[in-house]
Amino acid sequence: MRVLSGIQPSGRLHLGNYFGAMKPQLALQKDSEPLYFIASYHALTTVHDPHQLRALTVDVAMDYLALGLDPEVTTLFRQQDVPQVTELAWILSCVTPMGFLERAVSYKDKVAQGLFPNHGLFAYPVLQAADILIYLSEVVPVGQDQRQHIEITRDIANKFNQEFGEVFVVPESRIIESTAIIPGTDGRKMSKSYGNEIGIFEEGTTLRNKVMGIVTDSSGIDEPKDPHSSTPFLLLRMLASAEETAEWERRYVEGGMGFGEVKKRLLELIQETLAPAREKRRELERDPGYVEDVLTEGGKRARSIARPVMERVRELTGLPISYKPV
Ligand code: ADP
Ligand code: TRP
Repeated sequence: MRVLSGIQPSGRLHLGNYFGAMKPQLALQKDSEPLYFIASYHALTTVHDPHQLRALTVDVAMDYLALGLDPEVTTLFRQQDVPQVTELAWILSCVTPMGFLERAVSYKDKVAQGLFPNHGLFAYPVLQAADILIYLSEVVPVGQDQRQHIEITRDIANKFNQEFGEVFVVPESRIIESTAIIPGTDGRKMSKSYGNEIGIFEEGTTLRNKVMGIVTDSSGIDEPKDPHSSTPFLLLRMLASAEETAEWERRYVEGGMGFGEVKKRLLELIQETLAPAREKRRELERDPGYVEDVLTEGGKRARSIARPVMERVRELTGLPISYKPV
């Protein structure tokens, strides 16, 4: 089973990214050898500062390694290390009906958020299809917000296969639905676009202030409370044991518990659970050469999968080249 996914290096990763995408992706290492890449070309649709893009790319790699990505099992690489991807993206563009892209909600959302509507942002799903199809991926673990992109990928794969010959595997998306949307400090979906995120590696006073500042309703200590509409509880249950979660649930419903108490426990849980990853990340920061080696090796391996697929695509489309591709 070939498992592939990508994550954009467009900001520091937060607990929503961790519980919603990274943790379930890392769990797949148990029974597959996934390919996970850092979608830097996708980030270029919005990040136009070269230093920032470079730094964020390394940050994402370090985050994954610190959180348990095993480079002996998983191929971790940078999108730009596989030139076949952008090559394929153009070819796929030429079989992609405009309607597929015009219907894409992520473009509309991003423009509504005030992002500059460049062509890269519009063509984003075609590049994503190339990412997935070039490795003949079978399973693509992504969050719910990526469902439409996977559907577009399937449609593009079918179009190409019908027109030129069966090359691509039509992938299945394994939407990560077991985890609900993780709320941010203001109760809306945790997202860097809302500035309500708690960073995975945040610590000290910054972390404390964020957790203690989580917005809650104004019910008094004695009043019974609804845990399932309460941000501290929704975050706590991602970290606490089943028994502890049930205990807090009971205390919410019974009343007699203040939000300060649950926030304090949440803070402790975040600190405890992520302490080993934080330590590992500090080690990685002291050894940037190691991270670079992992990415270089990953790129090599990813290219060795992409190369023969691209050769076949060139053959079928009548686009031979006169040099030996890397
Ligand atoms: P952001 O909303 O901060 O820009 P991204 O869109 O880059 O985050 O998210 C990358 C992946 O992380 C998404 O595909 C999604 O699956 C997951 N994710 C992001 N935020 C959340 C959240 N609040 N709850 C659950 N999953 C999330
Ligand atoms: N669009 C994805 C996101 O924002 C990132 C991504 C790019 C991706 N290419 C991919 C995810 C290929 C899965 C497969 O989260």
